[in-house]
Amino acid sequence: MQDKAFDVAVVGATGAVGNMMIQVLEERSFPVRSLKLLASARSAGKKLSFRGRQITVEELREDSFEGLQLALFSAGGSVSRTFAPISAQAGCVVVDNSSAFRMDPKIPLVVPEVNPDAVTVAPGIIANPNCSTIQMVVALKPIQDAVGIKRIVVTTFQAVSGTGKRAVDELRRQIKDLSNGDPVNWEVYPHRIAFNCLPHIGAFLENGYTEEEMKMVNETRKIFNDYSIGVCATTVRVPVYYGHSESVNVETRNPISVEQVRDLLSSASGVKLVDTPADKLYPMPIDSEGRDETLVGRIRKDPSVENGLTMWVVADNIRKGAATNAVQIAEILVERNLI
Ligand SMILES: NC(=O)c1ccc[n+]([C@@H]2O[C@H](COP(=O)([O-])OP(=O)(O)OC[C@H]3O[C@@H](n4cnc5c(N)ncnc54)[C@H](OP(=O)(O)O)[C@@H]3O)[C@@H](O)[C@H]2O)c1
Repeated sequence: MQDKAFDVAVVGATGAVGNMMIQVLEERSFPVRSLKLLASARSAGKKLSFRGRQITVEELREDSFEGLQLALFSAGGSVSRTFAPISAQAGCVVVDNSSAFRMDPKIPLVVPEVNPDAVTVAPGIIANPNCSTIQMVVALKPIQDAVGIKRIVVTTFQAVSGTGKRAVDELRRQIKDLSNGDPVNWEVYPHRIAFNCLPHIGAFLENGYTEEEMKMVNETRKIFNDYSIGVCATTVRVPVYYGHSESVNVETRNPISVEQVRDLLSSASGVKLVDTPADKLYPMPIDSEGRDETLVGRIRKDPSVENGLTMWVVADNIRKGAATNAVQIAEILVERNLI
């Protein structure tokens, strides 16, 4: 990275992802000259720490982006829809974590290990994919490159932190209430999440799938730039705090052995192979927490189809699924002198 430094904003700085963005900018020594922390009026005046300094959170406003070069957004779709174009217009490039622009054909949708060349600042906004999609495409990229992927059937087991801070609090509270024999209630999810699984993430659509499931279908094809890949997703919220898990079943175009897949994944960018079941070693969400790699294991042949493989893929949804991926995109902007 060059000696240049940048004036950066984090929009949604007080949220689960925004907070992690601040931490990841610091950990990766991103060249920040000044950091502006933005949230709603509710949090204005609150202080957050960056590089040992306390920074006061400001209310997001139309003039918040003047003089800045980069803004990392994670305050939800409606905030992004209103303010990302304002930021871009002010010359401040946006990396957006919401789903607002992901499927816009003019907006790049980027996972640095998979399609770094899609990065362009022309539209002023770059979209960060959905957390579940990111970890799946990181694991599948080497297979797509080697033999081509015809079809993916994925089932997810997604942590409550993917819904934000209120959902983490809701699970904690329900576990406590259940242990104390107190009445349990819920606000964030439509049912109790403690000791339960909800096959319902995002709204149900006319085709019977949920929004989250269709994100996995559409984003996977856009990131791979391969619209011939068939994807069938079932997304499930589980009572885990951090780390999304996925059962990923793949039908490849050409044959590939389990050994070849292990070989490819052991040197793949952003992947950590954890696949020695004889030693009880396989990816688990508790091991993904705080890491940036996508953990892959339980790789085996699917005997029910000619070129079938099945595997288990786990990653920290707040880091690689959101904050780290966004900062990695920002690093590409710096490396290529695009900001
Ligand atoms: N969590 C994940 O795994 C994950 C992964 C990928 C993408 N995302 C996306 O990232 C975004 C944030 O998720 P999160 O989990 O961090 O949610 P969160 O914990 O609920 O945080 C939401 C953040 O947005 C801010 N905000 C809300 N309304 C605002 C407004 N009108 N103006 C300015 N700021 C506003 C909040 O500020 P206040 O403190 O003022 O309320 C807070 O900082 C969502 O779009 C989500 O889909 C999340």
